[in-house]
Amino acid sequence: MLEKIQETAEFLKGKMHTTPKTAIILGTGLGSLADEITNKTEILYADIPHFPLSTVEGHSGKLLFGKLGDKDVVAMQGRFHFYEGYSMKEVTFPVRVMKELGIQRLFVSNAAGGMNPEFRIGELMIIRDHINFFPEHPLRGRNLYGDRFPDMSEAYDAALIRQAKQIAAEKNIRVKDGIYIGTQGPTFETPSEYRMFRYFGADAVGMSTVPEVIVARHCGIKVFGMSVITDLGVEGIVEKVSHEEVQKAANAAQPLMTTIMRELINRAD
Ligand code: HPA
Repeated sequence: MLEKIQETAEFLKGKMHTTPKTAIILGTGLGSLADEITNKTEILYADIPHFPLSTVEGHSGKLLFGKLGDKDVVAMQGRFHFYEGYSMKEVTFPVRVMKELGIQRLFVSNAAGGMNPEFRIGELMIIRDHINFFPEHPLRGRNLYGDRFPDMSEAYDAALIRQAKQIAAEKNIRVKDGIYIGTQGPTFETPSEYRMFRYFGADAVGMSTVPEVIVARHCGIKVFGMSVITDLGVEGIVEKVSHEEVQKAANAAQPLMTTIMRELINRAD
């Protein structure tokens, strides 16, 4: 696997004209940030050796290199979800490649169901911490590098969280913060499952992000993450959820999430 990671990184280095330290996973809510990347080089996942291909509607698969403001960035347009059938090694492969490319900070977004009764549909949640509820661990197996038993006491960078809150306050954008629980999907939760996750201490639930964050932390990359609350799993008001409604709520929140991320990426040292 190490060889594959290096081969992929070498291939990409041959196509890159920059040396970005910042990577972005353009999950739900951040799609339009791709349009703000200038001097863009686009590489289809299908053309990258060893890269998995993304399959889900609404997630095209491309790697983008370019500038966001005056920062060199690499962005993943489309991510790999465990529910699509990929192994955890495949889901997190791009993050391992990012490390090899010299990435130091990773910015991620996702859609999530809110379980904190104070949350409303369309609100943004800065991820303060996560709970890994996936049935397979991305670091299971031979330890390729880093610690065998990695520390997770600050999975989400405290300084970036502070800075993001400051930016939100300056721009008059309401944000909450909370705990994201990552689960395999593809079913949305039953009312009892939402209640269980709430008892666990989670504020929001989604089907992504946790694997990539674990691998990023394992290789020393700092992480910042944000969720768009697209539906509610709050006791008494659990309503029917559909992929379309999730997309609709996410699109409405997109400009606010994009503003915070753009500023944060620009101000990060
Ligand atoms: N549960 C799991 N994943 C999700 C949800 C949800 O309610 N909303 C968006 N992604």
